[in-house]
Amino acid sequence: MKSRHVRIVEVGARDGLQNEKEVVPTEIKIELIEKLADAGLTTIEATSFVSPKWVPQMADHHEIMSRLKRKPGVVYPVLVPNLKGFEKALEVHPQEVAVFTTASESFSKKNTNSTVEESLKRCREIVAAAKQNNIRVRGYVSCIAGCPYEGKIDPSATTRVAAELYKMGCYEISLGDTIGVGTPGSIQKILSQVCKSVPIESLAVHFHDTYGQALANVLVAIEMGINVVDTSVAGLGGCPYAPGASGNAATEDVVYMLDGLGIDTGVDLNKLIITGDFICKFLKRPNNSKVAQAFQRRLSKEGNQKEKCI
Ligand code: HMG
Ligand code: MG
Repeated sequence: MKSRHVRIVEVGARDGLQNEKEVVPTEIKIELIEKLADAGLTTIEATSFVSPKWVPQMADHHEIMSRLKRKPGVVYPVLVPNLKGFEKALEVHPQEVAVFTTASESFSKKNTNSTVEESLKRCREIVAAAKQNNIRVRGYVSCIAGCPYEGKIDPSATTRVAAELYKMGCYEISLGDTIGVGTPGSIQKILSQVCKSVPIESLAVHFHDTYGQALANVLVAIEMGINVVDTSVAGLGGCPYAPGASGNAATEDVVYMLDGLGIDTGVDLNKLIITGDFICKFLKRPNNSKVAQAFQRRLSKEGNQKEKCI
């Protein structure tokens, strides 16, 4: 019998790096993306065409997409906030773009200087333009479980915007717990509401790990039948307009857990760990993935034992 497959959407090069204070050189970002593709990831969000005044780290979007060696079979979506970003992205021929809105009015203002309705209007304009260019559109809903400015968010607000994104033509809706406050209990309630308005096959989850709940939340989503999970190598990340939010669920941890459940991801864990090590060494930062940490400890213990034998 064929085993269940879960598609990982790797967001490390965008969500993972957008919050870094020091500008990461373009060649490092490209090497990271190429290593991720070599590790077997088939959807790799490469960058965002947002305003460089708002997110300076993503200012090299055009160069990344033009210089990147695209591996056949791999999709490299880019995030776009408005038609201007879409038109710039069009120059580099993306197969897919991602639009974003939120369940929180206050976050919408802080993140995109717009109300939720205005941001949905921008999404609609992008979806229409993308359709004319045969480009698929993915939609994000942020702050599904809580907002850094408003606190708790009612699941009905998430359901409403998720349904709007779906109705306007987004093929997949990624539900984002931007500040990582959701728990298996609250996430289960949100997902059961949303899937009454959006088919479960069209839903993805995107959990930040601020309160250490991301992996447990992924498990809940998987148990409910969701087959697309956004993750970030080495658990990198955060949003510049969501103070205090930490990185996404680490790709290494999610791949290891799914492997243990007998669920296929197509990802080579060893290559992934080497990739996480590469970017963490560059950023001079410990790896947030528990699985990567355990592998490193095991390797150094085995190395020490070998030295003793010699
Ligand atoms: P604004 O200031 O209201 O925009 O920002 P504007 O239309 O008034 O334009 C201001 C200036 O920016 C103008 O330049 C525009 O040309 C330029 P000026 O005339 O002053 O020289 N501009 C652009 N330049 C390049 N690319 C563009 C673009 N648009 C305008 N696309 C805007 C509105 C939406 C642009 C801004 O708020 C923005 O870029 N926000 C993005 C913030 C962001 O990237 N946040 C992180 C991503 S979302 C996230 O991380 C959550 C997620 O991971 C899911 C989750 O975790 O839940 C997806
Ligand atoms: Mg995010």
